[in-house]
Amino acid sequence: MSPPDTSQRARGDAVLSIEGVDSGYGDVQVLDDLTMHVADGEIVCLIGPNGAGKSTVLKTVFGLLEPWSGSVRFAGGEIGGEDPADLVRKGVGYVPQIDNVFGSLSVNENLRMGGVARKEGLDETITELYERFPLLDEKRGATANQLSGGQRQVLALARALVMEPELLLIDEPSAGLAPSIVDDVFDDVQTVNDLGTSILMVEQNAREGLSISDRGVVLDQGTVRFEDRADRLLDNPEVSRLYLGG
Ligand SMILES: Nc1ncnc2c1ncn2[C@@H]1O[C@H](COP(=O)(O)OP(=O)(O)OP(=O)(O)O)[C@@H](O)[C@H]1O
Ligand SMILES: [Mg+2]
Repeated sequence: MSPPDTSQRARGDAVLSIEGVDSGYGDVQVLDDLTMHVADGEIVCLIGPNGAGKSTVLKTVFGLLEPWSGSVRFAGGEIGGEDPADLVRKGVGYVPQIDNVFGSLSVNENLRMGGVARKEGLDETITELYERFPLLDEKRGATANQLSGGQRQVLALARALVMEPELLLIDEPSAGLAPSIVDDVFDDVQTVNDLGTSILMVEQNAREGLSISDRGVVLDQGTVRFEDRADRLLDNPEVSRLYLGG
Protein backbone atom coordinates (compact mmCIF):
# COMPACT_ATOMS: atom_id res chain seq x y z
CA MET A 1 0.00 0.00 0.00
CA SER A 2 1.36 3.43 -0.84
CA PRO A 3 2.09 5.48 2.25
CA PRO A 4 0.03 8.62 2.75
CA ASP A 5 1.43 11.70 1.02
CA THR A 6 2.92 13.70 3.84
CA SER A 7 5.46 15.42 1.61
CA GLN A 8 4.10 18.87 2.46
CA ARG A 9 5.00 18.47 6.13
CA ALA A 10 8.06 17.47 8.10
CA ARG A 11 7.84 14.50 10.42
CA GLY A 12 6.97 15.85 13.85
CA ASP A 13 4.62 18.63 12.66
CA ALA A 14 1.10 18.33 14.04
CA VAL A 15 -1.15 16.30 11.79
CA LEU A 16 -4.02 16.95 14.20
CA SER A 17 -4.32 19.84 16.59
CA ILE A 18 -7.21 20.46 18.91
CA GLU A 19 -7.19 23.84 20.60
CA GLY A 20 -9.52 25.16 23.27
CA VAL A 21 -12.37 22.88 22.26
CA ASP A 22 -15.65 22.72 24.13
CA SER A 23 -18.08 20.06 22.90
CA GLY A 24 -20.99 17.93 24.08
CA TYR A 25 -24.45 16.59 23.44
CA GLY A 26 -27.44 18.93 23.25
CA ASP A 27 -26.77 21.38 26.06
CA VAL A 28 -24.67 18.93 28.10
CA GLN A 29 -21.02 19.96 27.94
CA VAL A 30 -18.47 17.12 27.95
CA LEU A 31 -15.20 18.56 26.62
CA ASP A 32 -13.96 21.60 28.49
CA ASP A 33 -11.29 23.72 26.83
CA LEU A 34 -9.52 20.66 25.41
CA THR A 35 -6.10 21.21 23.88
CA MET A 36 -3.99 18.35 22.52
CA HIS A 37 -2.24 17.32 19.32
CA VAL A 38 -0.99 14.35 17.32
CA ALA A 39 2.35 14.88 15.58
CA ASP A 40 2.98 13.40 12.16
CA GLY A 41 3.96 9.74 12.53
CA GLU A 42 2.88 9.38 16.15
CA ILE A 43 0.60 7.01 18.01
CA VAL A 44 -1.09 8.99 20.78
CA CYS A 45 -3.04 7.02 23.38
CA LEU A 46 -5.98 8.77 25.04
CA ILE A 47 -6.82 7.26 28.41
CA GLY A 48 -9.05 8.16 31.34
CA PRO A 49 -11.99 6.89 33.39
CA ASN A 50 -15.38 5.85 32.03
CA GLY A 51 -17.33 8.89 30.94
CA ALA A 52 -14.25 11.14 30.82
CA GLY A 53 -15.09 12.15 27.26
CA LYS A 54 -12.59 10.03 25.29
CA SER A 55 -15.09 8.89 22.65
CA THR A 56 -16.45 12.43 22.54
CA VAL A 57 -12.98 13.67 21.50
CA LEU A 58 -12.93 11.29 18.54
CA LYS A 59 -16.53 12.13 17.59
CA THR A 60 -15.72 15.84 17.69
CA VAL A 61 -12.62 15.40 15.51
CA PHE A 62 -14.56 13.25 13.03
CA GLY A 63 -17.38 15.77 12.62
CA LEU A 64 -20.04 13.69 14.36
CA LEU A 65 -20.27 16.50 16.90
CA GLU A 66 -19.72 20.16 16.13
CA PRO A 67 -17.26 21.86 18.48
CA TRP A 68 -18.98 24.62 20.47
CA SER A 69 -15.80 26.64 20.48
CA GLY A 70 -12.11 26.34 19.69
CA SER A 71 -10.44 24.82 16.66
CA VAL A 72 -9.75 21.37 15.22
CA ARG A 73 -7.08 21.37 12.53
CA PHE A 74 -6.03 18.46 10.31
CA ALA A 75 -2.89 18.82 8.18
CA GLY A 76 -3.00 22.54 8.82
CA GLY A 77 -6.62 23.19 7.77
CA GLU A 78 -9.64 23.80 9.99
CA ILE A 79 -11.99 20.78 10.02
CA GLY A 80 -14.21 21.50 13.04
CA GLY A 81 -17.76 20.33 12.28
CA GLU A 82 -16.91 19.20 8.76
CA ASP A 83 -18.92 16.36 7.26
CA PRO A 84 -17.45 12.90 8.09
CA ALA A 85 -17.65 11.83 4.43
CA ASP A 86 -15.52 14.83 3.45
CA LEU A 87 -13.05 14.05 6.22
CA VAL A 88 -12.70 10.47 4.97
CA ARG A 89 -11.87 11.83 1.52
CA LYS A 90 -9.31 14.19 3.05
CA GLY A 91 -7.52 11.36 4.84
CA VAL A 92 -9.12 10.96 8.27
CA GLY A 93 -10.24 7.44 9.21
CA TYR A 94 -12.40 6.47 12.18
CA VAL A 95 -12.97 3.08 13.83
CA PRO A 96 -15.85 3.55 16.30
CA GLN A 97 -16.10 1.85 19.69
CA ILE A 98 -19.19 -0.19 18.71
CA ASP A 99 -20.93 -1.19 15.49
CA ASN A 100 -17.75 -0.76 13.47
CA VAL A 101 -18.55 -3.42 10.86
CA PHE A 102 -21.69 -4.52 9.01
CA GLY A 103 -22.54 -7.84 10.69
CA SER A 104 -24.65 -9.32 7.92
CA LEU A 105 -22.20 -8.45 5.14
CA SER A 106 -19.21 -10.57 4.21
CA VAL A 107 -15.63 -9.61 5.00
CA ASN A 108 -15.11 -8.72 1.35
CA GLU A 109 -18.30 -6.63 1.21
CA ASN A 110 -17.27 -4.79 4.36
CA LEU A 111 -13.91 -3.90 2.80
CA ARG A 112 -15.55 -2.73 -0.42
CA MET A 113 -18.01 -0.62 1.57
CA GLY A 114 -15.04 0.99 3.29
CA GLY A 115 -13.82 2.12 -0.12
CA VAL A 116 -16.99 3.48 -1.72
CA ALA A 117 -15.41 6.93 -1.85
CA ARG A 118 -12.31 5.60 -3.66
CA LYS A 119 -12.09 6.72 -7.26
CA GLU A 120 -9.45 4.22 -8.33
CA GLY A 121 -7.15 1.53 -7.02
CA LEU A 122 -9.72 -0.11 -4.74
CA ASP A 123 -9.05 -3.67 -5.93
CA GLU A 124 -5.29 -3.26 -5.54
CA THR A 125 -5.65 -1.85 -2.03
CA ILE A 126 -7.97 -4.65 -0.94
CA THR A 127 -5.54 -7.22 -2.35
CA GLU A 128 -2.76 -5.62 -0.32
CA LEU A 129 -4.91 -5.65 2.81
CA TYR A 130 -5.59 -9.38 2.35
CA GLU A 131 -1.83 -9.92 2.12
CA ARG A 132 -1.30 -7.92 5.29
CA PHE A 133 -4.16 -9.55 7.21
CA PRO A 134 -4.19 -13.21 6.14
CA LEU A 135 -6.94 -14.08 8.59
CA LEU A 136 -9.28 -11.80 6.63
CA ASP A 137 -8.16 -13.44 3.40
CA GLU A 138 -9.17 -16.83 4.76
CA LYS A 139 -12.57 -15.46 5.80
CA ARG A 140 -13.39 -13.38 2.72
CA GLY A 141 -16.82 -14.94 2.26
CA ALA A 142 -17.79 -15.20 5.94
CA THR A 143 -20.16 -12.60 7.34
CA ALA A 144 -18.73 -10.29 9.99
CA ASN A 145 -21.17 -11.85 12.48
CA GLN A 146 -19.41 -15.20 11.99
CA LEU A 147 -16.01 -13.77 13.02
CA SER A 148 -14.56 -13.84 16.52
CA GLY A 149 -14.29 -10.56 18.42
CA GLY A 150 -10.61 -10.18 17.57
CA GLN A 151 -11.16 -10.96 13.90
CA ARG A 152 -13.99 -8.41 13.79
CA GLN A 153 -11.72 -5.76 15.27
CA VAL A 154 -9.08 -6.47 12.61
CA LEU A 155 -11.81 -6.20 9.94
CA ALA A 156 -12.88 -2.83 11.37
CA LEU A 157 -9.28 -1.64 11.21
CA ALA A 158 -8.77 -2.93 7.65
CA ARG A 159 -12.06 -1.36 6.60
CA ALA A 160 -10.80 2.06 7.68
CA LEU A 161 -7.47 1.44 5.91
CA VAL A 162 -9.15 0.95 2.53
CA MET A 163 -9.19 4.74 2.25
CA GLU A 164 -5.46 4.91 3.06
CA PRO A 165 -5.95 7.49 5.81
CA GLU A 166 -3.20 9.82 6.93
CA LEU A 167 -4.74 10.00 10.41
CA LEU A 168 -6.66 7.15 12.02
CA LEU A 169 -8.93 7.59 15.04
CA ILE A 170 -9.47 4.28 16.85
CA ASP A 171 -11.86 3.87 19.77
CA GLU A 172 -10.94 1.02 22.15
CA PRO A 173 -9.60 -1.62 19.75
CA SER A 174 -9.09 -4.06 22.63
CA ALA A 175 -12.56 -3.75 24.20
CA GLY A 176 -14.01 -7.12 25.11
CA LEU A 177 -11.09 -9.14 23.70
CA ALA A 178 -9.23 -11.97 25.42
CA PRO A 179 -5.74 -10.90 26.62
CA SER A 180 -3.94 -13.10 24.07
CA ILE A 181 -5.83 -11.44 21.21
CA VAL A 182 -5.33 -7.93 22.59
CA ASP A 183 -1.62 -8.24 21.79
CA ASP A 184 -2.37 -9.25 18.19
CA VAL A 185 -4.70 -6.30 17.66
CA PHE A 186 -2.13 -3.89 19.13
CA ASP A 187 0.53 -5.42 16.86
CA ASP A 188 -1.70 -4.65 13.90
CA VAL A 189 -2.23 -1.07 15.11
CA GLN A 190 1.52 -0.66 15.41
CA THR A 191 2.09 -2.03 11.90
CA VAL A 192 -0.41 0.46 10.50
CA ASN A 193 1.58 3.23 12.21
CA ASP A 194 4.90 1.86 10.95
CA LEU A 195 3.53 2.15 7.41
CA GLY A 196 3.01 5.88 7.88
CA THR A 197 -0.42 6.49 9.38
CA SER A 198 -0.61 8.75 12.44
CA ILE A 199 -2.94 7.37 15.10
CA LEU A 200 -5.09 8.74 17.91
CA MET A 201 -6.22 5.72 19.90
CA VAL A 202 -8.58 5.59 22.88
CA GLU A 203 -7.84 2.70 25.26
CA GLN A 204 -9.26 1.42 28.56
CA ASN A 205 -6.45 -1.08 28.58
CA ALA A 206 -4.23 1.85 29.46
CA ARG A 207 -0.92 0.14 30.24
CA GLU A 208 -0.90 -1.89 27.05
CA GLY A 209 -2.19 0.98 24.97
CA LEU A 210 0.55 3.27 26.27
CA SER A 211 3.18 0.60 25.73
CA ILE A 212 2.74 0.78 21.93
CA SER A 213 2.31 4.58 21.87
CA ASP A 214 4.69 7.51 21.52
CA ARG A 215 2.71 9.81 23.77
CA GLY A 216 -0.24 9.60 26.10
CA VAL A 217 -2.95 12.01 27.15
CA VAL A 218 -4.98 11.48 30.32
CA LEU A 219 -8.47 12.90 30.05
CA ASP A 220 -10.67 13.35 33.12
CA GLN A 221 -14.00 15.18 33.19
CA GLY A 222 -13.47 16.45 29.67
CA THR A 223 -10.13 18.07 30.27
CA VAL A 224 -6.44 17.09 29.97
CA ARG A 225 -4.92 16.11 33.35
CA PHE A 226 -1.60 14.72 32.12
CA GLU A 227 0.18 14.68 28.80
CA ASP A 228 3.64 13.23 28.27
CA ARG A 229 5.75 10.65 26.50
CA ALA A 230 4.05 7.30 26.98
CA ASP A 231 7.01 5.75 28.82
CA ARG A 232 7.06 8.67 31.27
CA LEU A 233 3.33 8.38 31.95
CA LEU A 234 3.81 4.68 32.67
CA ASP A 235 6.53 5.60 35.18
CA ASN A 236 4.60 8.48 36.78
CA PRO A 237 3.43 7.32 40.25
CA GLU A 238 0.49 9.70 40.35
CA VAL A 239 -0.76 8.67 36.92
CA SER A 240 -0.23 5.07 37.90
CA ARG A 241 -2.20 5.41 41.13
CA LEU A 242 -5.04 7.47 39.68
CA TYR A 243 -5.44 6.07 36.20
CA LEU A 244 -3.51 2.82 35.72
CA GLY A 245 -4.84 0.86 38.66
CA GLY A 246 -1.72 1.28 40.84
N1 LIG B 1 -25.16 10.46 22.78
C1 LIG B 1 -25.01 11.02 23.99
N2 LIG B 1 -25.95 11.85 24.51
C2 LIG B 1 -25.80 12.42 25.72
N3 LIG B 1 -24.74 12.23 26.51
C3 LIG B 1 -23.78 11.41 26.07
C4 LIG B 1 -23.86 10.76 24.79
N4 LIG B 1 -22.75 10.01 24.62
C5 LIG B 1 -22.01 10.18 25.73
N5 LIG B 1 -22.62 11.02 26.59
C6 LIG B 1 -22.11 11.45 27.90
O1 LIG B 1 -20.91 12.17 27.69
C7 LIG B 1 -19.94 11.84 28.69
C8 LIG B 1 -18.67 11.37 28.05
O2 LIG B 1 -18.95 10.20 27.29
P1 LIG B 1 -17.86 9.47 26.41
O3 LIG B 1 -18.59 8.38 25.69
O4 LIG B 1 -17.11 10.44 25.60
O5 LIG B 1 -16.89 8.88 27.53
P2 LIG B 1 -15.68 7.85 27.39
O6 LIG B 1 -14.51 8.49 28.07
O7 LIG B 1 -15.53 7.42 25.99
O8 LIG B 1 -16.21 6.65 28.31
P3 LIG B 1 -16.03 5.05 28.13
O9 LIG B 1 -14.70 4.75 28.72
O10 LIG B 1 -17.14 4.51 28.96
O11 LIG B 1 -16.13 4.70 26.68
C9 LIG B 1 -20.59 10.82 29.59
O12 LIG B 1 -21.11 11.50 30.71
C10 LIG B 1 -21.72 10.26 28.76
O13 LIG B 1 -22.79 9.85 29.55
MG1 LIG C 1 -15.75 5.64 25.01
